[in-house]
Amino acid sequence: MSKVAFIGAGNMSKAIIVGLIEQGFTASNIIVSNPSAPKREALAKQYGLQHTDDNIAAANFCDTIVLSVKPHLIKDVCQQIASQIDISNKCFISLAAGISIAQIQAALAQPAAVVRCMPNTPSQVGLGMTGMYASPEVNNQQQQYSNDLLNAVGKVMWLENEAKIDDLLTVSGSSPAYFFAFMEAMQQQAITFGFSQEDARELVQQAAIGAATMVIKNADTDIATLRENVTSKGGTTQAALQVFSDGKLGELVSSAMIRAKARSIEICESN
Ligand SMILES: NC(=O)c1ccc[n+]([C@@H]2O[C@H](COP(=O)([O-])OP(=O)(O)OC[C@H]3O[C@@H](n4cnc5c(N)ncnc54)[C@H](OP(=O)(O)O)[C@@H]3O)[C@@H](O)[C@H]2O)c1
Repeated sequence: MSKVAFIGAGNMSKAIIVGLIEQGFTASNIIVSNPSAPKREALAKQYGLQHTDDNIAAANFCDTIVLSVKPHLIKDVCQQIASQIDISNKCFISLAAGISIAQIQAALAQPAAVVRCMPNTPSQVGLGMTGMYASPEVNNQQQQYSNDLLNAVGKVMWLENEAKIDDLLTVSGSSPAYFFAFMEAMQQQAITFGFSQEDARELVQQAAIGAATMVIKNADTDIATLRENVTSKGGTTQAALQVFSDGKLGELVSSAMIRAKARSIEICESN
């Protein structure tokens, strides 16, 4: 069975490790590396993993290396590993936003097998959506293994080219925050109507999860039709939707997503 090293014991590593353990992955095949002790020790103690403060020891232990440090550290971590061990049979999985496969291979100083992933925050509750793209050096077994790792925290979508990561980032990567912003605004207005903060939150979150579940359970029905089905002519919902329409909600959302994509490209180019 393949072994995996997580470089960085932060939020995303923790989410994936918890998902893997819940799916029956053998804990002794996982090692986590982190410079400071508390996070990796807590993970190791709770799930029976191996842990270290030495990225080289972690990389030596495994076939697959998950790069789960902040984007500005990816280059240093790759240079450190590639300068000290033979990486020719290893597969690197990068979770870092804004770092291309070419940049990772340049830091590794060879055309290594690299899978670039863009997960999102709901991965932390097992409901993530991860876009993935594999460099040509990744073999079928490595691709399947990468798929299994990210599947542990939600759904996975393989992209036909790396540039699609920038599109996906604005659709599923950043978008949990769009929904949070919408729910936040609704909660605020509910409080203005006199609901307690707690009641306002419950009303909003139940509506959100109900709407999302209806979208999932009515897979053959367009989202536009679901909206029309709850919009009686001359009724309250139509009155609210008219305000969105007058404020050009559709155009606003498009502009926001186009801006996020442009920013993703800018960040990648500046790294
Ligand atoms: N969280 C998300 O929802 C999300 C979504 C999409 C993509 N990502 C990507 O996933 C990656 C990890 O994000 P995260 O949220 O898990 O970050 P995080 O919670 O800050 O975790 C990063 C970890 O890396 C450790 N670290 C720092 N320098 C290191 C080194 N040289 N070697 C090994 N470990 C080192 C840090 O340790 P110390 O704390 O001890 O410094 C920290 O525990 C990032 O590239 C991010 O862009 C995250």
